[in-house]
Amino acid sequence: MGWMDHLLKEFGKFERALFVSCGDGWVERDCFQAGLIGHAIGFDILPELLETARTEAAKIRMPSTYSVEDGNKINLPKGGYNLVVNNGACHHGACHHIAFLGRLLREVNGALAPDGLYVIIDYTAPHWNQYSWAAWEQIIKANVELTRTAPETNLFTFAICRPKGTSEMPSQEQLDAWTEE
Ligand SMILES: C[S@@+](CC[C@H](N)C(=O)[O-])C[C@H]1O[C@@H](n2cnc3c(N)ncnc32)[C@H](O)[C@@H]1O
Repeated sequence: MGWMDHLLKEFGKFERALFVSCGDGWVERDCFQAGLIGHAIGFDILPELLETARTEAAKIRMPSTYSVEDGNKINLPKGGYNLVVNNGACHHGACHHIAFLGRLLREVNGALAPDGLYVIIDYTAPHWNQYSWAAWEQIIKANVELTRTAPETNLFTFAICRPKGTSEMPSQEQLDAWTEE
C-alpha cells in the first residue's frame, strides 16, 4: 500500500491540501485520483511548471489553485489546510530550493488546521547521503521502528537510504543489529 492509500484509510479525505513547491503537480493529481484530496493548492517558484500543473489539473477536473511563490518568503494563511504535502521540496541543495527552512516550517505549522497533517517525503542534508553517522543512526532507528509499528505502509521508508561508503541497501538483519546495539 502506498502512502496515499494509507492516509485515505487512516484519515479519510482531506478537503484542502497544500503542496509545497509542487513542481508540475503530479503529486496532487495522484492524491486527487486516489480520492485523498478535494482541492489542491500548490505553489512553486517556476511559472512554467505551474502552467503544466494547471493544464493537467483541468484535464482531470481537479479543483486547484496555483501561484508563483518563493518558499523562502511565503506567508501562508493561518489554519487554512487539512493536509500539507512536501514531496522532495524543502531540501536545500546547491543554489536553489529552500534556504530558510525553519521559517517555512513555521509557516506550514501555522497553516495547518488544528487536526491537520503534514506529510514530509524529503531530506534536509546539503545533498543525498551527506549526513553524519549520528544522523544516520537516528534515521535508521526511526525507520526500523516505523517498519515494525506500521508494517503495512511505506509511508516513512523513504528515509532508508544507503549509508555513506556502501553500495547496498542495509539488510533487515543489519537494521535489527543496529537498533539492538
Ligand atoms: C525536487 S523538485 C520537487 C517538485 C514536486 N514537489 C515533485 O514532487 O515533483 C523541487 C521543486 O522546488 C521548486 N523550488 C525551488 N526553489 C524554490 C523556492 N525558493 N520556492 C518555491 N519553490 C522552489 C522547484 O521549482 C521544483 O519544482
